[in-house]
Amino acid sequence: MAPVPLPLVPFPAHIDVRRGPAFDLSGAGLSADPDAATALRSLVAARTGLDLPDGDGIVLTVQDGGPAESYVLEAAATGIRVTGADAAGLHYGVQTLGQLIRRDGDRWAVPPVRVEDAPRFAYRGVMLDVARHFHDVPTVRAYIDRAASLKVNVLHLHLSDDQGWRLELRSRPELTATASATAVDGAEGGFYTQDDYRAIVAYAASHHMTVVPEFDMPGHTHAVSLAYPGIAEAPVTDVITEGAIPVEGEPYTGTAVGFSSLRVHDEATYAFVRDVFAELAELTPGPWLHFGGDESHGTTPEDFARFVSRASAVIADLGKTPMAWHEAGAATGLAPGTVGQYWGFVTPVDAAPQHARGFADRGGRVVLSPADAVYLDMKPTDDAPLGLTWANGATSLERAYSWEPADVVDGLPEDAILGVEAPLWTETVATLADIDALVFPRIAAAAEIAWSPATGAERTWESFRTRVGGLGPLWTSLGVRFPALAEVPWTT
Ligand code: ACM
Repeated sequence: MAPVPLPLVPFPAHIDVRRGPAFDLSGAGLSADPDAATALRSLVAARTGLDLPDGDGIVLTVQDGGPAESYVLEAAATGIRVTGADAAGLHYGVQTLGQLIRRDGDRWAVPPVRVEDAPRFAYRGVMLDVARHFHDVPTVRAYIDRAASLKVNVLHLHLSDDQGWRLELRSRPELTATASATAVDGAEGGFYTQDDYRAIVAYAASHHMTVVPEFDMPGHTHAVSLAYPGIAEAPVTDVITEGAIPVEGEPYTGTAVGFSSLRVHDEATYAFVRDVFAELAELTPGPWLHFGGDESHGTTPEDFARFVSRASAVIADLGKTPMAWHEAGAATGLAPGTVGQYWGFVTPVDAAPQHARGFADRGGRVVLSPADAVYLDMKPTDDAPLGLTWANGATSLERAYSWEPADVVDGLPEDAILGVEAPLWTETVATLADIDALVFPRIAAAAEIAWSPATGAERTWESFRTRVGGLGPLWTSLGVRFPALAEVPWTT
């Protein structure tokens, strides 16, 4: 029988499991860079109840030299040393150390290993839709905690949609004043003040995560139409195949898509685009501003191309890198370097790959979010109470794990792949418990695909499901209410 793999997710690039006695955590001291010390102390306290006093035993340091975000972890009975090439690398080494802690008789121990680790992709993201259901700052912080523990380094916030505008802007206060109070099915809405948003950005940064904010346009803008009817088209209801019909001038609480659009031939629209992205750029230290561009079903291809070309130029002129869903790749006038986000299927069935290649043709790169593998809002099983099924039915953990980024878009060179992102749309997701029920354990699959080398002895479904099962006790100790999917042999 093959030995049980250590419960490490994402699996490290190199690991050498050694013979000999384990490191005993009780009585161990810690000598560390302050941020890493705080992170490890809270992880150890949650998992074991032990306090780590200052002292000898565990050493955490940053030492320049290796690739960005890399670390080396050495554990032996005599001590543990984690060395990050930068602060992010050290943070990831701490997460790996947290996953190595295990019960050993009546003590807590770390097995003797040497890990040398670095990510495959620079962009390893999750998305949270705060428009369909609003999620408050504590919930976003909890989502950041969960994602960062799996070496995810991007939080994409979908800040506007037909159902609501969720960020206060000084230049356009009417947006939150008139279009933030409601959400799907009449749920209470909400919005982030500028201080709330800054607090999210800072909390993400302290977890080595970059926030990618999105204002979706020209479609998904019914909320904008409530504040600024003069720059919005009337709803195009004949494109709606499912969901409630919107009414002009009234908040939308249904889940239909594709019916709204900003006016493409009106300069007042571009004054709006400039205002909202200029303020967003000011509030956002990260390099990317996402302008949506998906599902503009009521807009002609020519008008759509005109709009996304102008919107991308506005963002580029602000010194930021524009980012958009793959449909925008159809526009030849897109600003050079715009990043595309592919949300077609693992085995494409439409023009999505052609659109994704459009970004690379203009010097941009692509983030892969194949909907039937990494859309965390799909049901994990047919009988799951939450979630949707339009992306090829329920997405099992096995399907979430069994795809290769370089094989999705034909003709897209690997160096044009910026990374992988797992979006969580929130039509059916109202609380942190709902988030956990859909995000876990499939976020672990996306995290491993984004971080770990494409191949290796442990890059198999059998190894992955066993390693995920081994993480159950850690997730429970961190307060994650993951569903006990039957696909996983959970450790109790
Ligand atoms: C999308 O799922 N409409 C990007």
